[in-house]
Amino acid sequence: MSDESIARAADLLRGGGLVAFPTETVYGLGGDACNAAAVASIFAAKGRPAFNPLISHVASASEAFALGIETPAARRLADAFWPGPMTLILQRAPNCPIASLTSAGLDRIALRVPAHEGARRLLQQFGGPVAAPSANPSGRISPSRAAHVMAGLGGAIDMVLDGGPCSSGVESTVVDTSGTQAVILRPGGVTRDAIARCLAAGGLSLMPATQDGPGKDRPVSPGQLESHYAPHARLKMNVTAIEDDMELIGFGPIAGAGRLQLNLSESGNDSQAAANLFDMLHAADGTGAGVIGVAPVPDNGLGEAINDRLRRAAAPRG
Ligand code: TXA
Ligand code: MG
Repeated sequence: MSDESIARAADLLRGGGLVAFPTETVYGLGGDACNAAAVASIFAAKGRPAFNPLISHVASASEAFALGIETPAARRLADAFWPGPMTLILQRAPNCPIASLTSAGLDRIALRVPAHEGARRLLQQFGGPVAAPSANPSGRISPSRAAHVMAGLGGAIDMVLDGGPCSSGVESTVVDTSGTQAVILRPGGVTRDAIARCLAAGGLSLMPATQDGPGKDRPVSPGQLESHYAPHARLKMNVTAIEDDMELIGFGPIAGAGRLQLNLSESGNDSQAAANLFDMLHAADGTGAGVIGVAPVPDNGLGEAINDRLRRAAAPRG
C-alpha cells in the first residue's frame, strides 16, 4: 500500500467517504466514527440492521482509553494483546466524540487497535477513530481479500486499499471489560485460554464459557445473530465423506473433495485453518455446489471461533 493511496484514503474518510481497508483479521468497511452520516452510509452499504453496533479502530491504546473508560481488565488485556485481533467493550468516556449511531445508541463502545501495518498507517494518517464492520454485505461471508470486498460491495464504497490476503482469518475476539468480570461476547483471533490466563495472572477473572451465552441478565453482543456469515450454498458441519451436490472442505486427515479439493489445514493446525476459513468458503461457494460440507474441526484454540462462524453459516436463514 503506497503512501499516496493511504493519504487519499485518509482524505476520503475526512470527507465522510467509505474506505475498505485490510486488517490482520478481515477487511473492514471504514468510515469516520465521529461522523453519523458516514456511519449511516456504512450501514446502508452493508444492508446491516441498524441495531448492530460497530467497532471503532484506533492507532494506539492511549487513543482507545481517551474514548472509553479504562478498567483494570481492559488495561491488562490491552497491554497483552494490542495491537492485535481483540476488541474491548468499554463505557463511553465523558465527551466521547464517537457518534451514537456507531454504538447503535448503547452507552458502551467497542474499540480495537489492529496490528496490520497498512491499517495502522491509515489510522495514524486519519488521526481519529474509524468505525469498521467487516466489509461484506450483512449476513454474508467475511472478506479476507480485496477481491471479496469488490465482489460484495464494489459499487457502494469510495475506495478499497489492497493489502493482500488477511493473515489471521477470523475476526477479533470481543471482550466486554466494562464491568467487574470480563466476558467474551464473541470468540475470535485471541483464544479464550490466552485471555483467561492473562487476566488470572493479574488477579482478574473471566466469566466461564458455560455462562457467557446470551441470557436474561447477561450482556449480549447484538452482532451475534443466529444466521450470519452465510454462503449462498447450504452449509453442513462435521462432514466426513462427500455427498451429492457437495463441495467438501477438509481438515486434518479428512481430505477435501469435490471440484477444488480444499483443506483448511492438512496438519490440523488451528491458526492455519482460521486463516483459510473465509477464503475457502468463498471459493467453495463459487463452484455453484448446492451444499458446502466442512470436516469436523476440534474446539480447542482458534477452533472455538472457527466453529462459531461455521454454526452461524449453517443456521437456518431468517
Ligand atoms: O476483526 C474484526 O473484529 C473485524 C475487523 C474489520 O476489525 N470487524 C468486525 O466487525 O468483525 P463486525 O461489525 O462484523 O462485528 C463487531 C462485533 C459484533 O458482534 C457487535 O455486536 C460487537 O462487535 N459490538 C460492537 N459494539 C458493541 C457494543 N457496544 N457492545 C456489545 N457488542 C458490540
Ligand atoms: Mg461481520
